[in-house]
Amino acid sequence: MTIKDVLNIGVKKRLECENPTNRGNLECEILLCNILNKDRIFLHTNSNLALQDSTIETFFSQIERLKNNYPLEYITKKVSFYSMEFFIDEGALIPRPETEILIDKVLDLIKKHNITQIYEIGIGSGIISIILALHCKNLKITATDISKQSLKIARKNLKLKSKLDSTLEKRIKLVQTNLLDNIAFDKNALIVSNPPYINNSYKIPLNLAFEPQIALFGGEIGDEIIRQIIDLDSTFLCCEIGYNQCYLKKYLSHYKFVEFYKDYSNLTRGFVASKV
Ligand SMILES: C[S@@+](CC[C@H](N)C(=O)[O-])C[C@H]1O[C@@H](n2cnc3c(N)ncnc32)[C@H](O)[C@@H]1O
Repeated sequence: MTIKDVLNIGVKKRLECENPTNRGNLECEILLCNILNKDRIFLHTNSNLALQDSTIETFFSQIERLKNNYPLEYITKKVSFYSMEFFIDEGALIPRPETEILIDKVLDLIKKHNITQIYEIGIGSGIISIILALHCKNLKITATDISKQSLKIARKNLKLKSKLDSTLEKRIKLVQTNLLDNIAFDKNALIVSNPPYINNSYKIPLNLAFEPQIALFGGEIGDEIIRQIIDLDSTFLCCEIGYNQCYLKKYLSHYKFVEFYKDYSNLTRGFVASKV
């Protein structure tokens, strides 16, 4: 079978399920590119190329996994974020586009206040700390996560992105701990976090079931970890939150400046707070 035939059948198969997607074409192309280690232009310019049986078999078995709600990014082990490609695997949350807004908010604060030390709580795959450190060459970061598996993935991304900046591994210190426990934390610094914020009884969509639950659920109400982060009382705080957690404003009254920001769907998605 040729690339063209395999893609046509793949898209049909992908749509034969309870949760058909509107990006079946794209998903199939991404899967095939990943198996062949080629880009999408190659697929289009070589559409009549005959594929090996083993390639076809792998491709169709991966389509089945997608149909069972397994995330594409965990199959390819790649995720695009902030115009870069990062390694991703089951141990860490798949980065979401809205977290790019959090990074832009932190970059604004860093520039405005000449901040050189920050703390990230819940680094996950490492995307936030790595992008911040790549943009701010003087920045030092202590980044924590309670999950050993997430830290392993963050460490791998740190190593991969060190090719872009050899100081990266020195400037980002990874620590496995709860919040900032046992870290000599400077309260004048900035804390950034995209913490788990879904309430424990919320019925999550099927595709989220494959992501680490510790990255999603924040407690009975959902805001428990966010409130513990607010209680750390840092001078600067940037946090992603759930769309229905605007009421957290009442816990931020000791900050001079508080801004709640919206995501690409115009839903509240986080806040920036500063005491100066
Ligand atoms: C929503 S994910 C965010 C991951 C990554 N920063 C991102 O934006 O894609 C939350 C992360 O917080 C970590 N986490 C959960 N509870 C924690 C705690 N008490 N202390 C530190 N990290 C925690 C999870 O393991 C997970 O990696």
